Amino acid sequence: MDFQLKTLSIAQAASEKADVLIVLVAAGSGASKDALSALIAQARKAGDLQDKAGKLLALYRPEGCAAPRVLLASLGDGKPASVRSAVAAAIGAAKGSNPRRVVIVATEAMDAAAVGSVVIAAADASYVYGTTKSKAEPRTIRQLVVGADDAGALRQAFGEAAATVAGIELAKEWANRPANHCTPTLLAGAAEDLAKLPNVKCEVLGPKEVAKLGMGAFTAVAQGSAEPLRFVVLRYHGAPKDRAPVVLVGKGITFDTGGVSLKPAAEMDEMKFDMSGAASVLGVFRALGEIQPAINVVGLVPACENMNDGRSVKPGDVVTSMSGQTIEVLNTDAEGRLILCDALDYAKRFAPSAVIDIATLTGACVVALGAVRSGLFSSDDSLASALSAAGDEAQDRCWRLPLDDDYAEGLKSNFADVANIAGRAGGAITAAKFLQRFTSDFPWAHLDIAGTAWKSGAAKGATGRPVGLLVNYLLSESRKGVAKAGSGKAPKAARKRAGKARTS
Ligand code: BES
Ligand code: MN
Ligand code: ZN
Repeated sequence: MDFQLKTLSIAQAASEKADVLIVLVAAGSGASKDALSALIAQARKAGDLQDKAGKLLALYRPEGCAAPRVLLASLGDGKPASVRSAVAAAIGAAKGSNPRRVVIVATEAMDAAAVGSVVIAAADASYVYGTTKSKAEPRTIRQLVVGADDAGALRQAFGEAAATVAGIELAKEWANRPANHCTPTLLAGAAEDLAKLPNVKCEVLGPKEVAKLGMGAFTAVAQGSAEPLRFVVLRYHGAPKDRAPVVLVGKGITFDTGGVSLKPAAEMDEMKFDMSGAASVLGVFRALGEIQPAINVVGLVPACENMNDGRSVKPGDVVTSMSGQTIEVLNTDAEGRLILCDALDYAKRFAPSAVIDIATLTGACVVALGAVRSGLFSSDDSLASALSAAGDEAQDRCWRLPLDDDYAEGLKSNFADVANIAGRAGGAITAAKFLQRFTSDFPWAHLDIAGTAWKSGAAKGATGRPVGLLVNYLLSESRKGVAKAGSGKAPKAARKRAGKARTS
């Protein structure tokens, strides 16, 4: 979809050519004399337009308007969440007439947050998946024009939002693809395509290289599949080389059968979404490539299938992770943490300022937080608060859960350094405790997106979360980095380590 930002007053909007004109109506507005304001005042007087966010009034060929269809959408309190629901409702209603050009204006001046919400909500509501349909209905909305009183002042926010949309849609595309159209090899290919963007590089490792690195846990998960594993290393360089990067690690299980600890058949198809963490990392790089912020970011994606086979890892098998820690695989369905622990250990070599892993890790997190907030775990309070603020701002929210050492009790093993599962209680937390064992060298956070990465039921499909949260976080980090340029460097010893690792 083509996004455009244009200076347009509410009076000018009436003469704007569009298939649908959406007017976001702030509570109490409509006092001016132009055609649209007059319509709003009339509708309000008649009791046909309520102030609750998302309430709509559809008008057909109203007087004084160039657009044949005009949708008045109430903004309620005007907060970003209300802007989102108003735009979502309006685009949902507008879709019925298959519009090509949609213009959105607001009765009150939009700020940066509002314009971002408009762009992201409009894209979300108009998204269509088509890749594996023979007669794909294309997205009918080709052009979305946002009219604002002072387009110049909103240009940057608008550009960042449009780039975030490109990232969200890339994440949706790959997460939505069925597993036979999203193998580890195809997913790695999508990452390689991102290297066409300025300042983005990509390197892909295969089974031999991964085995040579000593990634015994990742290898164990992949060994039951006919599809070879891939380990993706993406880099974005927007800041001086010696600035410590943020490392993102995305769980890339392209299909999770559970392995020998097989999952039940019902809804098993949804385990094609088990690479949503990986997809979100690709999405973030897509956005970074477009925005070009002053920050360094590394993206790591361990990608493989978790399958049943004569070669599959078995309950009770002990594997050796890259960190040297041995792991008793008590349940082969707890595979995400096995591939992530090796990727987290690999992250050390970048001497990162922070490492954030993103994973559809546990059903227990879905039980705890549902589909509203992602689970956030962190060993670092300032990282946790930065992520949670970024999520609030992007309306891609998360909620911090605890990491008390007592939760690790159940991970004890008689046959290895650690087991890959504990009891049923606190399952999202015990999974995070397992990961934490591999993160002692850097500030670390873990986002469990099992409940938020996709929707089940009639609207089954990927959400593109938490691309919005992550892009927002990285942009605010880049602004901080610029503000105190020179600082934020990796500690000397870590830099030395990093240099060594890079040449090896
Ligand atoms: N991919 C699943 C987690 C999941 C389950 C995501 C349901 C979304 C919806 C993960 O690999 C898994 O199977 N986790 C197990 C862990 C258990 C065996 C300790 C789970 O949550 O049941
Ligand atoms: Mn599993
Ligand atoms: Zn899984």
